[in-house]
Amino acid sequence: MDKQTFNENLGNFRLADALIQRRSIRIFKQSPIPKKLVDTAIYAALLAPSPHGTFPWRFCIINKKKSKTKLGKSMGEKFLEDMKFEGISKKTRENRYQKSLLLIQNSPLIILVSLDYSKMDFYEERSKQHNENMMAEHSLGAALQNLMIALAAQGIGSVWRCAPLFCPEIARDALNLPKKWIPRAMILAGFPKIKPTEKKFIKPRVLIR
Ligand SMILES: Cc1cc2nc3c(=O)[nH]c(=O)nc-3n(C[C@H](O)[C@H](O)[C@H](O)COP(=O)(O)O)c2cc1C
Repeated sequence: MDKQTFNENLGNFRLADALIQRRSIRIFKQSPIPKKLVDTAIYAALLAPSPHGTFPWRFCIINKKKSKTKLGKSMGEKFLEDMKFEGISKKTRENRYQKSLLLIQNSPLIILVSLDYSKMDFYEERSKQHNENMMAEHSLGAALQNLMIALAAQGIGSVWRCAPLFCPEIARDALNLPKKWIPRAMILAGFPKIKPTEKKFIKPRVLIR
């Protein structure tokens, strides 16, 4: 994508409006999202800061029904297992599983976002390596915020779902992704069925020294 197209797709939008209007949207119209809008959002994600400029984020665009179902069912089995272990009743387990599967299947677009640590610095010391990798984790939030803001600016609703964080290998293998990709989140997206309410300002907790 070139800068002009990127600007055209986002240029008319005020940052303040996009920040305020981005809300978590969970009910979508069935219409597909044009590819250029998705591309714009991914390019926006790549403008986020990253540790050592490594851009450790990897994206899988899921728009085939078969892939959504496979991902939803694979992660769902683990979800069912975890809920059983936690002593949740069979009826509640089934309800939650179905609700989560339907949400995935009914999202026009899913972007599964993974981390690839391979360009991060290597340390012998475990705690130092943990902190190094943590920088990649932090940067994922920055990239996803850019992505969701760019979607919102183009009238597309989205919600961050954390399920892949709890079963990264299962999510990765369900979609046949490279082994070094570590799924961390999925963004469900589509044109919103109802207009969300604007986000309210909350009182910041700030200390001044
Ligand atoms: C790291 C992270 C994980 C989240 N996971 C989920 C999730 O699994 N399911 C979900 O419905 N919303 C999830 N959310 C969305 C939050 O529930 C939502 O952002 C919050 O309630 C504030 O609402 P808003 O996004 O409309 O401002 C997640 C948000 C973040 C930042």
